[in-house]
Amino acid sequence: MCGIIGIVSDKPVSINIINSLKKLEYRGYDSAGLATLSNNLIDEKKCSGRVEELEKILIKNPSNGNIGIGHVRWATHGIPNIINAHPHSSEKVSVVHNGIIENSDELKKDLEEKGFKFKSQTDTEVITVLVTQFLENSKPLESVFKTLKKLKGSFALGIIFKNFPDIIIGARRGSPLAVGYSNDENYLGSDSYALKSMTNKISYLDDGELCMLSKNKVDFYDLNQKKINKKIYTVSDDENTTDKGDYKNFMSKEIFEQSNTIKKCLSEYTDSLKKDINIYNFPIEPKKINKIILIGCGTAYHSCLVAKYWFEELTSIDTEIDIASEFRYRNLKFKTNNLYIFVSQSGETADTAAALDICKKNNVKTCSIVNVVESTIARNSDWVLPIHAGPEIGVASTKAFLGQLIVLYILSLKLSIEREDIDKKNYDTYVENLTKLPEAIKKTFKLESEVQLIAKEFLDAKGSMFLGRGNSFPIALEGALKLKELSYLHAEGYPAGEMKHGPLALIEEGLPVIVIAPKDKYYEKTLSNMQEVIARGGKIFFITDNYNRLLSTNIRFRLRVPRVDSNLSPILLTIPLQLLAYHVASLKNCDIDKPRNLAKSVTVE
Ligand code: F6R
Repeated sequence: MCGIIGIVSDKPVSINIINSLKKLEYRGYDSAGLATLSNNLIDEKKCSGRVEELEKILIKNPSNGNIGIGHVRWATHGIPNIINAHPHSSEKVSVVHNGIIENSDELKKDLEEKGFKFKSQTDTEVITVLVTQFLENSKPLESVFKTLKKLKGSFALGIIFKNFPDIIIGARRGSPLAVGYSNDENYLGSDSYALKSMTNKISYLDDGELCMLSKNKVDFYDLNQKKINKKIYTVSDDENTTDKGDYKNFMSKEIFEQSNTIKKCLSEYTDSLKKDINIYNFPIEPKKINKIILIGCGTAYHSCLVAKYWFEELTSIDTEIDIASEFRYRNLKFKTNNLYIFVSQSGETADTAAALDICKKNNVKTCSIVNVVESTIARNSDWVLPIHAGPEIGVASTKAFLGQLIVLYILSLKLSIEREDIDKKNYDTYVENLTKLPEAIKKTFKLESEVQLIAKEFLDAKGSMFLGRGNSFPIALEGALKLKELSYLHAEGYPAGEMKHGPLALIEEGLPVIVIAPKDKYYEKTLSNMQEVIARGGKIFFITDNYNRLLSTNIRFRLRVPRVDSNLSPILLTIPLQLLAYHVASLKNCDIDKPRNLAKSVTVE
C-alpha cells in the first residue's frame, strides 16, 4: 500500500518527486522519504509523518540530483519512524519498496551471520543488503535479478545505484508498478495518477517483470531476463477531479459529487431514447450463466452484498458473495458457466487481484467493476465495467460505492431482460426509474443540517449500532464501517433480525442505534426489532423513505430520504450515513481524508 516514485531526468528531480508523493499519499502517510544521486553520493532524506514535513526538510536543505526515488509508507514491518521510513540505502544503492517480503526474517538471519548489519526493523532492508552484496561481482541488472530470485512475497521496487548514476531499476511481483515517458525524462510510479502531471503515456509492468529507466530510454525484461516490449497507453484526463475546489476536504467533495457521478455513470450505460441498457459482449451468453459469484473487500464487498439481493430479486441466477481474502484460500470448485465478478474501486487491491488470478488459472470467465480502468484488476479480467466516478482521493470510499451499486444494479437488470426473467414492460419501468436517481440524490443532500444535529449525539457515545434488513442490511454494515474508519468510534452493523441472537446484550441506556427502514417488505419486521432495542434503552435514529406518521414515540430523530423504486433505496439511504460519519469525525477533529492506520489502495495481503 505504500507509494513509489522514481524520476530520471536531465534536470533536478526532487520537486517533482515531492509533488508526486503528495498524490501518492492516499496509499500511505505515516512516513516519507526520498533519495537522489548528486556529487557521486546518495543523498537520502526521510521524515516520520506527512510529505509536507519532507518538503520542509528539502526547503532547508535542497537535494540537487537529476535522478531520484521517493516513497510514502504504510507501515507493515516496524513502527512508523524515520529509521523505518524508505528509502533504505547502503553505500551503493537506495531502495524503495511497496509490498511484503515474506521471508525477510530468514534472509536477514543469513545475512547477519555473514556479517551484514541492519539499521531498521523493515523487511525492505534485506533487498538493499542483497543488491549491495551482489553488486560486488555483478552489474546492476544482474544484481537485481539475483536478489529477486531470493525474495518471497509481493513487491514493487525502485532502486538507484551510486556508481551507475543514469539508471533506475523497477521490478514488480504482486504490487502494481507503472512506467511513464516524457522528453529527456522517464518515470516509475505506483500508479498512473502519480505521474499524470508529468505524462499521460504509461506502460504497466506485469508480475515478474523488471524495467530499467534512463532519461532517454526504457527497457523491459521478463522473468527469464529476456528483453520484452510493452504496450504504451494514453491515460485519460479526468476534469475537475484532482482538486478539492471549495470543499474542506476530498471526502466532502466526493459525497456531494455523487449526483453528478451517478448521472455520468447512467449516461454511459443507459440509452434514454431506446430505454435500454448499453451492456454487450457478455463473456458468457446470459442464458447460459449458471451462477454469479461476487467478490470484493471492505466497502466493495458491501456493494456485492447489496447486489446479491438484486440478482436474486431480478434474475433467476443463483448468486454468491465472497470476501476476496477468504475466497483466495478456499478449496473452490470452479465451473465454466459461472461468472466471477470482481468489484474494486482502485482495481489494485491485492486480495481481490489474487482472487482474480486464481479464477484465471482455473479458466473461468471474469468480469471486473472498477473505477480505475488502467488498473491491474481491469487489465486482467475478461470483461470490464467501469463505474465512471473519477478519481476518489478520500481514503473512505463514498462515490465509488454508489458507482459500484449502480453498475451492479444495471447489470442485474440487463441480465434479467436478456434471460427473459422479467418482461419488457417491467424492464422499461425499472430503467425509467433509474433516470430519477440523480435528482433524488440531490434532494437527499438537504438532510445535511439534520445529520449535523445527530452527529453531536454521537460525540460522547461509547459505541453505536446500525441495523437493517434485506438490502438495507449491507447499508447498515457500510454505515458502521464509515463511522468507525473516520471517527474511530466503535460501530457494529447487524441484520436487525439477528439482534435477539446475541448483540441485544450490547444495548444499554443511551446507546445510539441507527435503524435503516425503507418502506419495503421488511418494514414492519424492522419496526418490531427496533421496539426490542427501545425496550432496552437504545437511543434510536430512524432513517426511512416512509412519509407516513410513525406511531412509536421513542425515536430520538427521524430522517426521511426521498422515496424511489425500492430496489434503489440502498443508494439514497447510504448518503445520510456517509454524512453522519463525516460530521462525527469533523466534530472530533479527525483527519477526514486520511484516517489513522489506513491507506486508500490496499496492495498488501
Ligand atoms: C472503506 C474502504 C475500503 C475499500 C477496500 C477495497 O471506506 O474504502 O474498505 O473499499 O479497501 O478497496 P478497492 O475497492 O479499491 O478494492
